[in-house]
Amino acid sequence: MTDTDGARSVTRKGLRDLTLEHTDLGPAPTDGPLVDSYGRRIRNLRVSVTDRCNFRCVYCMPAEGLPWLPRADILTYEEIARLVRIAASIGIEQVRLTGGEPLVRRDLPDLVAMISKVPGLTSLSLTTNGFSLARMARPLADAGLTRINVSLDSLVRERFAQLTRRDALAQVLAGLDALAGCPTIRPIKINAVAMRGFTEEEVVDFARFARRTGFRVRWIEFMPLDADQIWRKEDILTGAEIKALIEAEFGPLVPVTGGDPSETARRYTFSDGIGEVGFINPVSEPFCAQCDRIRLTAEGQLRTCLFALSETDLRAPLRSGASDAEIEQTLRQAVWGKELKHYIGDKRFRRTARSMSMIGG
Ligand code: GTP
Ligand code: 5AD
Ligand code: SF4
Repeated sequence: MTDTDGARSVTRKGLRDLTLEHTDLGPAPTDGPLVDSYGRRIRNLRVSVTDRCNFRCVYCMPAEGLPWLPRADILTYEEIARLVRIAASIGIEQVRLTGGEPLVRRDLPDLVAMISKVPGLTSLSLTTNGFSLARMARPLADAGLTRINVSLDSLVRERFAQLTRRDALAQVLAGLDALAGCPTIRPIKINAVAMRGFTEEEVVDFARFARRTGFRVRWIEFMPLDADQIWRKEDILTGAEIKALIEAEFGPLVPVTGGDPSETARRYTFSDGIGEVGFINPVSEPFCAQCDRIRLTAEGQLRTCLFALSETDLRAPLRSGASDAEIEQTLRQAVWGKELKHYIGDKRFRRTARSMSMIGG
């Protein structure tokens, strides 16, 4: 199963046909766009700017927090911008800033301004818990942020506090209001992690919220990336189940087609065309075959899968005088070895030592 260019193709044959994982990997191509050994073109770089967070969501962090990385271990904005420039020169088109909570890192708009000037990028986005947005939305817009995803698991104060362990719903809603006044940051998406026994109660309210505000609400299946290791298969509330709850209230949803094929969410609108909801179903409907993402941790480790068990250190070459060409080839080789898929629900699945906050989602 070898392409003419040497890449094993997942896109044409489908993942189920592929049982070989990185035997005969060999050297990565030295030119052309960034591609992995299964033929997936990599266009999307997620950059974690900090492992710290001001929330303690139960599906992510322990109540007491985690041992934070020392400041000196974290890439500087200049180091991040250099890596983004190199990555963009070989085909990265979209950059998303993540955390922890990215807005707890000081002067984040400075980094946004630096990255927004990098040639070749079509999108610069942020995934945030929204706590600081009332203050930061305008500076981020002015610095050149183009898209944003805000986590919001409940529209009820007590339930929000129960899940995030912070009484901060009012701040997040004020942040969303501030975003509504920044028209250069669009679309605005809402992420709700779906957990059985918690999420069902507000599904219909969230659907109404999506219709009223124009924010695209997406439910994400709970993944085994929580630091407390509370994840159990039984806790997953699938996208299909949530969709059924919405359809029971509103009638059949209408698929939104023509979007980016690498997008994580299956998108739908309502029969009257007002409002959009989406389902991110990594467990019940894995989307690894279409994955175009790689991740950089706050301390400069490149992860080629959310569930990767190994990483490529980019900080050492950055800090030891490596040339752009050398870093580019290190990047190409790491991407060439990108994992075929995650094995959630399979005997072969092994948890990564990192929790979600140490990866950036
Ligand atoms: P959009 O481009 O706006 O759709 O962004 P996104 O959905 O990729 O980003 P976001 O940071 O909002 O992530 C939403 C959820 O999707 C988070 O729980 C991520 O962990 C999850 N997610 C993103 N990419 C992947 C992936 O490649 N694999 C898996 N399993 N989950 C992912
Ligand atoms: N499973 C699924 N999504 C998660 N997130 C955090 N932890 C988990 C988990 N265990 C989500 C956050 C945020 C995004 C980056 O990842 O809610 O929206
Ligand atoms: Fe913080 Fe995001 Fe983890 Fe919640 S999910 S604790 S907001 S890093």
